[in-house]
Amino acid sequence: MELIKWKDDFSVNIRIIDAQHKQIVEMINRLHSAMSTGKATEIMDEIFRELITYTNYHFEKEEELMKSYNYPGLSAHKLEHEKLSNQVKQYRDDFKSGRSVVSVDVLIFLKNWLLTHIQKTDKQYSAYLNAKGVS
Ligand SMILES: [Fe+2]
Ligand SMILES: [Fe+2]
Repeated sequence: MELIKWKDDFSVNIRIIDAQHKQIVEMINRLHSAMSTGKATEIMDEIFRELITYTNYHFEKEEELMKSYNYPGLSAHKLEHEKLSNQVKQYRDDFKSGRSVVSVDVLIFLKNWLLTHIQKTDKQYSAYLNAKGVS
């Protein structure tokens, strides 16, 4: 079963951002399914690495978009991205060094992290950017 099921309610009303968020949901679900089916460490590490790369790419794109429309909440938003990506990196480092396995706790963290960030922080730019004609 999927850990996260995409809901229309997650939408920020900007097509390209929704597509990227869906991609991240998909990656977290893949990591979850690799974990629950007892996949090899290398596969888990590969998915983790992809998740970090893609998440950073997404954060950059989002920040570029906010910047180009002078979104007033940019610096606070950036700070949140930074904290989140450091946290995910920390999980991966612990996993790689053998200090921890990818546990349910990590996945729950990723799930809550994503959903809270999208639903609280990302949604704050929706109306602002939509009003500027971004959709
Ligand atoms: Fe964001
Ligand atoms: Fe986002």
